[in-house]
Amino acid sequence: MHVLVTGGAGFIGSNFVHQTVRERPDVRVTVLDALTYAGDERSLEPVEGKVVFAKGDVADPDIVDSLVKDVDLVVHFAAESHNDNSLHDPWPFLRTNIIGTYQLLEAVRRHDVRYHHISTDEVYGDLELDDPAKFTPETPYNPSSPYSSTKASSDLLVRAWARSFGVRATISNCSNNYGPYQHVEKFIPRQITNVIDGVRPKLYGSGENVRDWIHVEDHNSAVWAIVERGRLGETYLIGADGEESNKTVVEDILEIMGRPRDAYDLVSDRPGHDMRYAIDSTKLREELGWVPRYENFRTGLEATVAWYQANEAWWRPQKDATEAKYAQLGR
Ligand code: NAD
Ligand code: DAU
Repeated sequence: MHVLVTGGAGFIGSNFVHQTVRERPDVRVTVLDALTYAGDERSLEPVEGKVVFAKGDVADPDIVDSLVKDVDLVVHFAAESHNDNSLHDPWPFLRTNIIGTYQLLEAVRRHDVRYHHISTDEVYGDLELDDPAKFTPETPYNPSSPYSSTKASSDLLVRAWARSFGVRATISNCSNNYGPYQHVEKFIPRQITNVIDGVRPKLYGSGENVRDWIHVEDHNSAVWAIVERGRLGETYLIGADGEESNKTVVEDILEIMGRPRDAYDLVSDRPGHDMRYAIDSTKLREELGWVPRYENFRTGLEATVAWYQANEAWWRPQKDATEAKYAQLGR
């Protein structure tokens, strides 16, 4: 099998490529990535010589067609992925997340290629802290931010292309990922690298917001389960029952790194900040027999702290520019 991985130089995509090369020697991998500020070819160094890399834009129909025509499967990770950036400048989100998905769908339609669409739990909006409910595949779409509304738009394109044109597609909506190779703009790496730099972690608002954390390797094993055994046209929610408040996550990071648990600052809140996400992954577990390997968040977090401590050469070049952007936002 030959798979085209879009966004394979980003956080989840590069981990997907590592895992695929490691565990599936029969699979050929080609990566398509525009190497935006969020992409880094060095994230593919562990698989150097084992995958083909094409630098290009998913919104460019020519490069997309030229690559899609030669593969059996597309796994589409490429996206503008950061909520804070989408509040500052939404256009790249519309272009990459909506137009890019459209170009891929047209190409897989032309060449009858199997397509898996990577999406987010944020398409469902948010939940109250005291609500016993979790997101299910039946929860109505209700996105809050420019980022999540473009991801919701792209999901709807996939559903329409599957129904109207018979495109062989599946969709997964996953909760917050953590693990190695995540850009330092994101919550967990930002706080770990701040502590390494002697800067106090920054919690938005009250810090009570809850995210449902899953290790990136568990996300990616679920993607393979869906590609191999999922029903065409279906949506699967991926989550590992990892609900934690932001405050607890920061306190745990500080403790793991040998600092007092209260050595953080509260800063101004993100506009429209979603309160809580929570995934009900029953369908994925019961229908496809998937189970997460990283069931203990604290252990996964310790490994992630250790990875950033050991890989400063990887993240250091991103750090100053990222913090300069945050300084402009007052966060
Ligand atoms: P990321 O920002 O780390 O990586 C995105 C990658 O896409 C980068 O390598 C970037 O260069 C590339 N890219 C951006 N625009 C492109 C374009 N126009 N053409 C080609 N490549 C382009 O993102 P991530 O956190 O790895 O997220 C990957 C996917 O998973 C996204 O679709 C995101 O919506 C989804 N997702 C992320 C999470 C999470 O917690 N990070 C959770 C659920 C779903
Ligand atoms: O739920 C899945 C989504 O998770 C993905 O679709 C997105 O691509 C991914 O970025 C992530 O979105 P969030 O907005 O939840 O992630 P982020 O890492 O930006 O923030 C996590 C939480 O931490 C959120 O409540 C905001 C808060 N936060 C974030 C930063 C960067 C802080 O309190 N301080 C910070 O410095």
